[in-house]
Amino acid sequence: MSGPYASPRSNASSPAVTLPALGKLRQAGQPIVCLTAYDASFAAILDEAGVDVVLVGDSLGMVVQGHASTIPVTVDHMVYHTTLVSRALRRAWLIADLPFLSYADPASALANAGRLLQEAGAKMVKLEGHAGQAAIVETLAANGIPVCAHLGLRPQSEYKIGGFRAAGRNPAEAEKMCEDARRLEEAGADLLLLECVPSRLAAEITKAAHVPVIGIGAGPGVDGQILVLYDILGLSRGVRPRFAQDFLTGGRSIAEAVAAFAEAVRNRTYPEPRHGFES
Ligand code: KIV
Repeated sequence: MSGPYASPRSNASSPAVTLPALGKLRQAGQPIVCLTAYDASFAAILDEAGVDVVLVGDSLGMVVQGHASTIPVTVDHMVYHTTLVSRALRRAWLIADLPFLSYADPASALANAGRLLQEAGAKMVKLEGHAGQAAIVETLAANGIPVCAHLGLRPQSEYKIGGFRAAGRNPAEAEKMCEDARRLEEAGADLLLLECVPSRLAAEITKAAHVPVIGIGAGPGVDGQILVLYDILGLSRGVRPRFAQDFLTGGRSIAEAVAAFAEAVRNRTYPEPRHGFES
C-alpha cells in the first residue's frame, strides 16, 4: 500500500467489501453502513472508520458545486470525483452515480458506466430507475457491470415530479414502486436504494427483495442506511432533509463523527421514527 492516503491507521488487513459480502450482511441482519464522498481526504476517513459502501453521488452537484439540483452534473464530473475517491479506498465498496441523461439508452449507459469502472475505479454504478429501464439494467448486467437501482424520490426527475418529495405515499404509487423494484431486480440489479419512501413500504420492498436494500429516509426496515456526508457533518445549506442528522456534535472530530454514524447504524439507534415518512 502506498500513497498519501494510505495511513498507518488504514484497515488494509480487513478484506475488501464485495457484493457477496454485502449479501451476507443482509442475510445476517447486520446493517450495512453507507456514506457519500467526493474526494480522497474524506474517502480515506470513511474507509478507516469501516464504512462498508462509499457512494460518489451526483449530489455533488449540490453540495460541492453549489447548484440547486443534480441536473447539471456530467459524466466527466462523475469520472473526476470517482477517481479521487477510488484512490483513497482500501476496503469499502465504491458506487458511482450515472448522472442525468447519461443512461437514456443501453448503448450510452454501457459507454458511461464503462468509463466509471475503467477510468475512475468504481465497482458499481447507480441509476435512478423504474421498470421502463429494465433493458438498460439488463445490458449493464450482461456486460458484468454491477448495478444499484435507485427508487423512490428520484432527484434527476425533480422538474417532472414537481420538486423533492417523498414517493410511494398513496396506494397506486406504492404498488408501482414494488413492481419497479421487482422488475429491476429481475433485470439484474444487485442492490436497491430507496430514497424518501414510507418506512412500511420500504420494509415491504426489502422483504420481497433478494438483494440488499439501502435506504435514505426509508426507515429502519431496510438492510442498510446511507446519508450524504455533508449532512452528517452539519455542512449542508438550505432546507435540511428530515432524515439528516448532524453527528459532528459534542466536540467530535470528523473521523469520530463518521464512526458515530457507523455505530448508530449498526446498533440501530439511527434512524429514529422521526427520520422516516408515513404512508
Ligand atoms: O447522489 C446521492 O448522494 C444519492 C444519495 C442521496 C443516496 O443518490
